[in-house]
Amino acid sequence: MTQDELKKKVAEAALEYVKDVAIVGVGTGSTVNHLIDFMAGIKGQFEGAVSSSEGTTQRLKAAGIPVFDLNAVGEVEVYIDGADEINPQKELIKGGGGALTREKIVAAASKQFVCIADETKSVDVLGKFPLPVEVIPMSRSYVAREMVKLGGQPVWRENFITDNGNEIIDVHNLKILDPKNMEETVNNIVGVVCNGVFSYQKADVILLGSANGVTTS
Ligand code: A5P
Repeated sequence: MTQDELKKKVAEAALEYVKDVAIVGVGTGSTVNHLIDFMAGIKGQFEGAVSSSEGTTQRLKAAGIPVFDLNAVGEVEVYIDGADEINPQKELIKGGGGALTREKIVAAASKQFVCIADETKSVDVLGKFPLPVEVIPMSRSYVAREMVKLGGQPVWRENFITDNGNEIIDVHNLKILDPKNMEETVNNIVGVVCNGVFSYQKADVILLGSANGVTTS
């Protein structure tokens, strides 16, 4: 089975969490794109969605799924999103697609975070995947120097602007043994809007797709 087939399988399994829910928080990425395609098939069973990116909004609308402003709906029942890395504590690295800030906001505003991924995303220690950090453009070099002090190797994601008009630094070679501490430390660097460690907004449920099927933890 290809990685994309695994993503599709796990997205289908997540439909269970969408049924009979008013508003679904919808993440961003190729796994979630499969989810949106499946959601289109059960439109009557939920009211609509809150979106975590412009890309997801476009896709939801094209599928005929109503998209609501987060400010208009309050707490969201369930948020479903992919991840770039998942550790055994259900802490994540996210932001490979650059949507980390809105993803973290919707995750924070949701009662339950269901993370859907193929098995290649499962790791013992976070950090092999470069940590995305969204920064106010004028702070980019300063934040990069601060990330070097934390032991990372920052790389500017060139020609990329986030939905919020900011830039991304991908920080390589971090071994994130204490994700909460890393999340706080990076957030405290002036100019950082958000970083891709999801420890405070870790997943509640992980659906992991492998050739043997989908496991829930
Ligand atoms: C988007 O910014 C990311 O957080 C995605 O959730 C993550 O990169 C997973 O993407 P795929 O589903 O495409 O692997």
